[in-house]
Amino acid sequence: MKIVTARLVLREFVAEDWTAVFAYQSKPLYLRYYPWVERTAVDVQNFVQMFLAQQQAQPRLKFQLAVTLKATGQLIGNCGIRLPEHGALNADIGYELDPAHWGHGYATEAAKAIIDFGFTGLHVHRIWASTLAVNDGSVRVLSKLGMQQEGHLRENEFFKGQYWDTLLFGILAAEWPASE
Ligand SMILES: CC(C)(COP(=O)(O)OP(=O)(O)OC[C@H]1O[C@@H](n2cnc3c(N)ncnc32)[C@H](O)[C@@H]1OP(=O)(O)O)[C@@H](O)C(=O)NCCC(=O)NCCS
Repeated sequence: MKIVTARLVLREFVAEDWTAVFAYQSKPLYLRYYPWVERTAVDVQNFVQMFLAQQQAQPRLKFQLAVTLKATGQLIGNCGIRLPEHGALNADIGYELDPAHWGHGYATEAAKAIIDFGFTGLHVHRIWASTLAVNDGSVRVLSKLGMQQEGHLRENEFFKGQYWDTLLFGILAAEWPASE
């Protein structure tokens, strides 16, 4: 599977991608809002292997694609949509990018394409996402996508020695495509 947008190509992961993922997942800025304090080569190899296994599932439920720059082919992150079961009404999306490429609208561009695939390719009725409330960049991405905040879960996560609030966002098929 491959999705081409104005500046990006979202493509299937291959095993060799782990080195590019390792390079950005080791950055402190990337790790800030994750439970992980570090990533080892084996962690990241397993992470990419998980995406390869998803490609083989029958029926396929998870579509976690490598986000690459159209101009150079460089892998700068990933973006995906996940069904809990075949024929599900709801799916959730996620995304992450190399900090070196934040602030250029790439996460929004990739997530737009993946939501579009969810509604037109997977025919789901609702797409949702959750983010830590302090993750201002992610909250902004979800808002720019036209997703509505549906919930605020107080202190429902605990890692790195503190509790974290989580925000739940959702969008319905009838609300798509949304304007910025
Ligand atoms: C969240 C993330 C994907 C955003 O990627 P991105 O490519 O920079 O996103 P975009 O450029 O499409 O949009 C980011 C928006 O948030 C804004 N933003 C970014 N950091 C911000 C901050 N600290 N405070 C306020 N706004 C912020 C940007 O200005 C931009 O809004 P604008 O277009 O109105 O100017 C990226 O920061 C990331 O990968 N973080 C680590 C992994 C992660 O948190 N993933 C999401 C888990 S829910």
